[in-house]
Amino acid sequence: MLKAMSKVMFKLIFKFAAIFTCLFIFKSSFAVEFDSSESSLEKGEFQLSTRCPPSFELVMSDSTISDSPLPKSTEPKSTGPESSQSQAKQQSVCRLVNQYQFYNSVQGRGVGGTQTSLPKHRDGFTPEQIDLGRYLFFDPLLSKDGSISCASCHQPDKGFSDDLDRSIGITGNKVARSSPTLWNVAFLDKFFWDARATTLEQQALGPLFDAEEMGNTPEQLLKSLNNNKSYLKLFSQAFPHSVTTKPSTVKLATIKPGTIKLATIKLSQVYTALTAFQTSLISLNSRYDRYAHGYKQALTKREIAGLNVFRSFVARCAECHQPPLFTNNQIAVIGTPEPEGRVFDMGAEKTYANNKNAAKLRGGFKVPTLRNIVKTAPYMHSGRYDNLLDTVKFYNDGRGNSVPENEKLLLHWHISEPDLTDDEMASIVDFLGALTDESLTPKVPERVPSGLNGTRLRVICK
Ligand code: HEC
Ligand code: HEC
Repeated sequence: MLKAMSKVMFKLIFKFAAIFTCLFIFKSSFAVEFDSSESSLEKGEFQLSTRCPPSFELVMSDSTISDSPLPKSTEPKSTGPESSQSQAKQQSVCRLVNQYQFYNSVQGRGVGGTQTSLPKHRDGFTPEQIDLGRYLFFDPLLSKDGSISCASCHQPDKGFSDDLDRSIGITGNKVARSSPTLWNVAFLDKFFWDARATTLEQQALGPLFDAEEMGNTPEQLLKSLNNNKSYLKLFSQAFPHSVTTKPSTVKLATIKPGTIKLATIKLSQVYTALTAFQTSLISLNSRYDRYAHGYKQALTKREIAGLNVFRSFVARCAECHQPPLFTNNQIAVIGTPEPEGRVFDMGAEKTYANNKNAAKLRGGFKVPTLRNIVKTAPYMHSGRYDNLLDTVKFYNDGRGNSVPENEKLLLHWHISEPDLTDDEMASIVDFLGALTDESLTPKVPERVPSGLNGTRLRVICK
């Protein structure tokens, strides 16, 4: 009896101690005096990589980076996007090399065929821009109070998502939707569940300046970056054409703060670097891909059976989750339910509010990729389903099974009554497990230029 009691007591003490330390660490992360003139220089200078990530080839390019137009209003005292300022210069950039690029187009091979080409993608960033983006992505300096980074909600070991139904921003509250994976975003032209951004640069404004997510302002973000000596140097390396001294007379690697005038950091460069990093997250070497390229042993019999159900005209999954990306990059109304107590999410109807066909997109969401899908539970825009089998069952329960009574949704015609057996549904789930490839996961920086460490803490304390 006594033994049992002391065991319970011990457990309780342990639990309290854990919670207390957790709270303490968490608190102190918030308490960090938000002075970005960092101390990390003392611990050694930051250097940007001059090599492309694996799967990319370094090639000479005489065009400038394929920057997309930026919303100018976000740039305080803006002089316009980076791309429009820099003249075309010869520079070494990273180009994606992948076997799918050698196949003919999707036409003529039949939807769901395995050897299909990839759609257009973003690449052509310099190694330095990609690496700078990596530091920015993991740096809580980007948030208003230094407490969270992009990686807090897009964690590399969780498929660049988090394991929450809906993510938690700086306020500690849950945001409206669940965090999507960032794998293969290079191939997308619509971002967010409701497709409200069309470029990654534009997308970045969302989390950075949303009061519920990172809560920053363009002015504060620029101020904290420009007050940080390491970032001033790193941005000058990544965007050498912005440095006021002629590049030919300066060896960028040896810039010492103070010796030359470093260009001030611009928001467009922040977006470009984040885009450069995110477009390097390529996942196209799963067991499924080896099978697709002709190595039939890469999948088990069971997984092949699952693939065949997946692309059959009964289940029709591949019509929308089209290989090789397992998305067709379109919006579809499929009528997923909201979690208990949440109001109906109108999705893409809001995005296209000015379009006369907007009502047809009520409840429509972007078809998400299914790459690394076993890593990114819970599923759907609201994180409604905890596991893949329940997600597949949603489709099998029949067209419109979860549409609220007062809603008339224009469900996509590929949403049907597949009537799959339990075994067929389970085989789809087994097949989806073969879509995992995290071989190109980038290295998490051991420290970031701000010296802040919010990301890790949030992970520990969840
Ligand atoms: C508080 C958590 C949180 C933080 C911090 C955060 N995100 Fe997100 N991210 C989300 C959520 C949630 C969505 C989906 C929102 C929606 O669709 O309405 C999203 C969507 C995205 C998308 C769109 C992906 C797609 O397939 O449509 C990209 C890209 C992205 N985030 C990149 C970033 C970057 C870069 C940062 C840092 C500047 C960042 N995120 C910070 C939670 C977060
Ligand atoms: C008409 C197009 C369409 C068809 C057909 C379709 N899906 Fe989807 N799928 C979507 C859309 C759109 C979403 C996101 C819906 C949401 O968030 O409410 C989605 C979400 C998913 C998700 C969750 C992904 C995530 O990241 O949360 C899985 C898993 C999935 N579908 C599997 C399947 C399977 C298996 C089938 C075949 C039985 C299938 N889908 C058929 C359009 C489709």
